[in-house]
Amino acid sequence: MRVIELQDQAGLKHLVQTQRPDPVPKDDEVVVRISAVSLNYRDLEIVQGTYAMQYRLPLIPLSDGVGWVVAVGKSVTRFGLGDRVAGTFWQGWIAGDPETPSFDSSLGGPLDGMLAEFAILRESGLVRVPENLSDDEASTLPCAALTAWYALITRGQLKAGETVLIQGTGGVALFALQFAKMSGARTIVLSSSNEKLDRVRELGADAVVNYLQMPEWHTQVLALTQGRGADHAMELGGPGTFTKSLQAIRLGGQVNVIGYLGGKSGEFNPLLILKRRATVRGIPVGSRSAFEAMNAAIESHRMRPLLDRTFPWSQTAEAFRYLKAARHFGKVVIRLQDSLD
Ligand SMILES: NC(=O)c1ccc[n+]([C@@H]2O[C@H](COP(=O)([O-])OP(=O)(O)OC[C@H]3O[C@@H](n4cnc5c(N)ncnc54)[C@H](OP(=O)(O)O)[C@@H]3O)[C@@H](O)[C@H]2O)c1
Repeated sequence: MRVIELQDQAGLKHLVQTQRPDPVPKDDEVVVRISAVSLNYRDLEIVQGTYAMQYRLPLIPLSDGVGWVVAVGKSVTRFGLGDRVAGTFWQGWIAGDPETPSFDSSLGGPLDGMLAEFAILRESGLVRVPENLSDDEASTLPCAALTAWYALITRGQLKAGETVLIQGTGGVALFALQFAKMSGARTIVLSSSNEKLDRVRELGADAVVNYLQMPEWHTQVLALTQGRGADHAMELGGPGTFTKSLQAIRLGGQVNVIGYLGGKSGEFNPLLILKRRATVRGIPVGSRSAFEAMNAAIESHRMRPLLDRTFPWSQTAEAFRYLKAARHFGKVVIRLQDSLD
């Protein structure tokens, strides 16, 4: 089978199309013919060699992909031929609280990912995808969408009428906006681009702030909430934005620590957590059961992920460069189905 792998070192120019043996499923495994994959910021870091976690090369990148079941092992009961499925980000996290051993089990590093003609996964590491979505759309769910869902819905227990603060307009951010609106919540979205802010308004954002034009954006969030602060913050910027997120939430509000788009090191005063009576939680994508709950909600609300651009498989490196430029609004997808032959 054809795969794209990082062969002997990190770097976009070391992404190489090559062959691996055709997959033959073990008893509990499923072979999936991949039709579309999508890119996350984490995948870019892994390919560039800047990700914090260790992984061995050669590696097939990308955690997110969707495809059709084409072979099953003899003890497989959850799936049959022709089912349309996605892999779970953590192959070892089924439900409940995350447990340490399962954290070796992420697709696209350290485990081989989805940028391949076929993926071979244990049946426990797959979910059916919502029927209302195209393959391109469904490919965007395993990491970015589930992270937003797990933070706001599974853990955050978001309620109608609450206010969600969302940083940027990347993959996780736009899913957070969609799930917040689905839940009847109010949203405040930050972006560096006025054009993108116009677009999030069209998608239903209730208030917007340009974080470059207004670096002290937390004061604006307080003003927009009559001094009270947001109930939930999606903390995607990292050390440079964490303190402001704490200053922008209400007393007793929640900060979901998710990303580090603005850098990985910095300082903050933990007493601010005490002062704000804040719940601060790290978000590690989400479990398979959260993924299944999210898919049911997407299907019943007929929600559609936002796609920016679809690349053919031959332009995989260009797709990564496009993500790196951060001009996207919606997910960046690579389609395998038509472009492999
Ligand atoms: N913990 C987890 O489970 C988890 C899961 C998924 C992602 N993440 C992390 O979450 C972050 C977002 O991932 P993604 O895939 O959604 O990224 P992405 O699609 O590449 O997001 C890029 C967008 O982020 C915004 N941005 C850039 N620098 C920023 C800053 N300093 N402050 C606020 N916003 C900034 C920009 O929006 P504008 O152009 O609108 O300014 C940019 O377009 C990454 O750090 C990623 O590693 C963590």
